[in-house]
Amino acid sequence: MRTIIEPFRIWTVRPIRPTSPEERLAALEAAGYNLLKIPARDVTVDLVTDSGTGAMSSQQWAAMMTADEAYAGSESLFRLEDAARELFGYRHVIPTHQGRAAKRLVCAALVEQGSTVPGNTHLETTRSAVRSAGGEAVELPIPEASANDSFHPFKGNIDLDRLRQLIERVGAKSIPVVFIAVSSPAGGGQPVSLENLRAARELTARHGIRLFLDCAYFAENAYFVQQREERWRGRPLHEVAREMFRLGDGVMLSARKDGIVNTGGLLAFDEDDLAQKVRRTLVRTEGLATHGGLAARDLEGMAIGLQEALDPNHLAHRLESVEHVARSLAREGVPIVQPPGGHAVLVDARAFLPHLDPVDLPAQALACALYLVGGIRAAELGSLKLGGRTDAQGKPLPVSHDLVRFSFPRRTYTRSHIDYVIEATLELWSNRHRVSGLEIVEEGERRHLTAVLCPKGGRLMQEEHARELPPDLRALGPCSHPLLERRRSTRAFAELLVSDAAIDRLIQSFRWAPSCANKQPWRLILTRRSPERDALHRTLIEGNEWARTAPLLAAVAMNPARASTVNGINYAAFDCGLAVENLIIAAVAEGLVAHPMAGYDEPAARAALAVPEPWRIVALVAVGFPGDSGRLDAATRAKDDRPRQRQPTAQIACFERWREEEGK
Ligand SMILES: Cc1cc2nc3c(=O)[nH]c(=O)nc-3n(C[C@H](O)[C@H](O)[C@H](O)COP(=O)(O)O)c2cc1C
Repeated sequence: MRTIIEPFRIWTVRPIRPTSPEERLAALEAAGYNLLKIPARDVTVDLVTDSGTGAMSSQQWAAMMTADEAYAGSESLFRLEDAARELFGYRHVIPTHQGRAAKRLVCAALVEQGSTVPGNTHLETTRSAVRSAGGEAVELPIPEASANDSFHPFKGNIDLDRLRQLIERVGAKSIPVVFIAVSSPAGGGQPVSLENLRAARELTARHGIRLFLDCAYFAENAYFVQQREERWRGRPLHEVAREMFRLGDGVMLSARKDGIVNTGGLLAFDEDDLAQKVRRTLVRTEGLATHGGLAARDLEGMAIGLQEALDPNHLAHRLESVEHVARSLAREGVPIVQPPGGHAVLVDARAFLPHLDPVDLPAQALACALYLVGGIRAAELGSLKLGGRTDAQGKPLPVSHDLVRFSFPRRTYTRSHIDYVIEATLELWSNRHRVSGLEIVEEGERRHLTAVLCPKGGRLMQEEHARELPPDLRALGPCSHPLLERRRSTRAFAELLVSDAAIDRLIQSFRWAPSCANKQPWRLILTRRSPERDALHRTLIEGNEWARTAPLLAAVAMNPARASTVNGINYAAFDCGLAVENLIIAAVAEGLVAHPMAGYDEPAARAALAVPEPWRIVALVAVGFPGDSGRLDAATRAKDDRPRQRQPTAQIACFERWREEEGK
């Protein structure tokens, strides 16, 4: 079977309240365009994080009901210890209330003032744990990790050369531990290969440095290794995971991710001295080492979660769903980070909204627009969250990227929710030229949580035609379909490319047109950026220079010799006209403008595009996203602003017979 179904039945549900666009706009305004201030009840699909937002299984709930809440000697702890030893293979198992507590305990025990803690990519919680212990956290991802379009299968790998150089530079003594996140949270969960891990292990062991795995996403990492690493292809996930943990000296786990619980974490390793130190601090700050601040029922949920995490059906469904989102968006040209990670898809907001500058907060604008279109809440990772910092001279530091992250909670949303997310994103993609930037009105500490924003120009999504329709157009009256009413031959284009997928649909729409005796006496020559396109520009008559800014300029060639001639009428131009109108209306459906033209030097255009006899170029069509008419020269703009005129209906149509007095 091709359909991948949810590998579970659902017997507990939480209703989703449908919201109207008006309600969503009101919610956005009330929240100051800060999605984290929107109540969850007003969110249709919540993709802001996959941490602690998954659904527990009936086995987990059942185990929680039978938890042993004894102060000492709780059976629940024994069960967690057994599950953790079985999975990780280390002797000491120390529960903590979250992953960040595990990291803080390890750093407090190992890191000193002046220590260096390298890693592939550190999570924010790791960085702050290292910093607060007096150390410096250094990230050494491979160069491919930052190339959004590089399909490297293991973008989470640590750069071994840079690690070697760092050890030589600062000395092994000042590196108490290396942290490798499996998988790396950057890029939505990019895996680390076992080959890379083994090499890192050999290097660190040679220098007597510990290697700890930050293993919140251990299950997705094991799955990717099983899928992508030749040596491990098809091997059982437990075997892959065991090897992964064998290569480390210990783990720090946030069980809110692949551990599939709403809270909980742990530490596991073999070193006795470290265990003693950690337990001592734990008692002071979190609770007894037998529970780490958790209830016994949380330990039970975690014990079962650790067993369920590596279920191949769960992982296949989960990772295939994320891949499905990525594939469906990329096919339509939506710029995403490739390949997608295990738990999230990242959309490149700067490429999605190239008409916005980073100061316009494109990722936040995109995330808010997505909420407006479909009630979807995604996370901003860009100029709002990471910006606002200055260098020593007080100059604002640039932010390297503006991304929007769709994180998928575990076992929470079905395939139809996911298809809904794809549909809403593609709808926004077709309307991306309408999205305005945002500005910060008020900001506090951790500004992505506290900021109040507003859209520049007052509206987040501009009207399709920003200019007021002239009264005479309104007087034209409605016709059969809004697409026909929306079609206009405007002349300003946005600096946005038309995706290959959209171009293909335009070609298909052209191709579907009727023609006399089905002769199809036409051919479309589509020009983008090429020497031929430059030559075609030179054939445009004065007054048609605006067409140069269109991302696509199509020449419609017709062959009268191939067309049907009936009653002495050659139907070539008529047939081409029908096909062009199909293309124009299809373009409007894509949110594009398609403007037909006869104003060019036809023989020169034929020469420019190498069109042979007896073909003629009957029209050029400029296609692109509508742009700001304010950027046109005054004469061209006046043409766009000219009231639209049509002959009176009585003059163009009559019933039963020709009526001279009306049809003159
Ligand atoms: C065959 C054809 C040739 C055209 N040639 C040009 C042209 O060379 N330059 C131009 O600016 N507009 C051209 N137009 C656009 C028309 O001026 C436009 O369709 C008309 O004014 C009606 O406006 P509307 O399309 O916005 O409803 C052409 C339209 C057609 C159908």
